[in-house]
Amino acid sequence: MLRDPFGRSIDYVRVSVTDRCDLRCTYCLPKKFNSFKEPEEWLRFEEIERIVRGFAALGTRRIRLTGGEPLVRHNLPDLAQRLAAVAGIEDLSLSTNATRLNKTAVALKHAGITRINVSLDSLHAERFAAITGGKLAKVIAGLMAAKAAGFTPIKINMVVMREVNADEVEAMVDFCIEHDFTLRLIETMPIGEPGRDAVNKYISLQEIKARLERRYSLIPGLMPGGGPARYVQVAGTDLRIGFITPMSQHFCASCNRVRLSVDGTLYLCLGQNDVYPLREHLRRGISDAELQQHIITAIGHKPERHEFNERPQQIVRFMAQTGG
Ligand code: GTP
Ligand code: 5AD
Ligand code: SF4
Repeated sequence: MLRDPFGRSIDYVRVSVTDRCDLRCTYCLPKKFNSFKEPEEWLRFEEIERIVRGFAALGTRRIRLTGGEPLVRHNLPDLAQRLAAVAGIEDLSLSTNATRLNKTAVALKHAGITRINVSLDSLHAERFAAITGGKLAKVIAGLMAAKAAGFTPIKINMVVMREVNADEVEAMVDFCIEHDFTLRLIETMPIGEPGRDAVNKYISLQEIKARLERRYSLIPGLMPGGGPARYVQVAGTDLRIGFITPMSQHFCASCNRVRLSVDGTLYLCLGQNDVYPLREHLRRGISDAELQQHIITAIGHKPERHEFNERPQQIVRFMAQTGG
């Protein structure tokens, strides 16, 4: 078991397979940004697999593929297949914007991805375009393809912003009931300049929850997954709503994860700058035992918590550079 200095067991690795994205969500990436990592800096699939094997040997059970937009990386199902076959990995999931899911859902399912989380902030095409720069119809087609391919559960991630989409939470509840999706509401975090701008639209999910309680009867709920969401169920339906509240009620005490970026850097906390580069070690030809020792050393540097409220200027990298 990997344990960090605060006694937390780390068994969930989020693997970012690219920092690129085919959308430009206002809270994530600046419109004109294009200083992405170059292909020679990207971990190759066999390098990602090797690192995942190292983690799995140390007790990691869950892997989530993220980006940027992970489906922008060519042949992602090949990587999924390799990772699904790693001994010890029990949960292989994907976080995507779903623009390309229509074409890849079946291949991803065959490759061994079991769960998919999809970003979707609005059900109005114009508003969706204003937030993401993309086409809502493509995302809906992707979602329906994922459902048809048999993914379950499918979780919708909605970043809730005042005067942007906060008025749509109830519509999203109805949409998720209709399609048997799980809804997760997320508070904006000051990650990079776009994230800090979005924090001007911050709305506490405690406020949204109180609003939902006036319309629905919410009972305690549970949901498979390894993330920080706290769930309720809408009485009389199968719908679970997860609240992800990094700002109003942080969940760092139960953090179970680290992030591997596309260039082979381990990010030890979403809200801190502590990193541990692995790629150069790998390319120098270290042994499996040495790799595991590097992982153990890295986890020894995991910070206790983020300081988004106390030090909102701290994180200059964009969300797409480490994965959400
Ligand atoms: P499940 O295993 O399905 O529970 O996945 P998850 O919720 O961990 O993954 P997902 O990629 O869907 O994450 C949803 C959002 O939760 C992310 O986009 C972030 O906004 C937030 N989030 C995930 N992990 C962390 C974390 O370690 N710290 C903070 N502050 N927020 C996180
Ligand atoms: N605050 C909160 N969540 C964010 N995401 C990206 N940027 C932010 C931010 N500033 C998350 C959203 C999105 C996923 C890819 O990353 O959940 O759906
Ligand atoms: Fe792309 Fe996701 Fe960032 Fe939106 S939030 S720009 S979909 S990486």
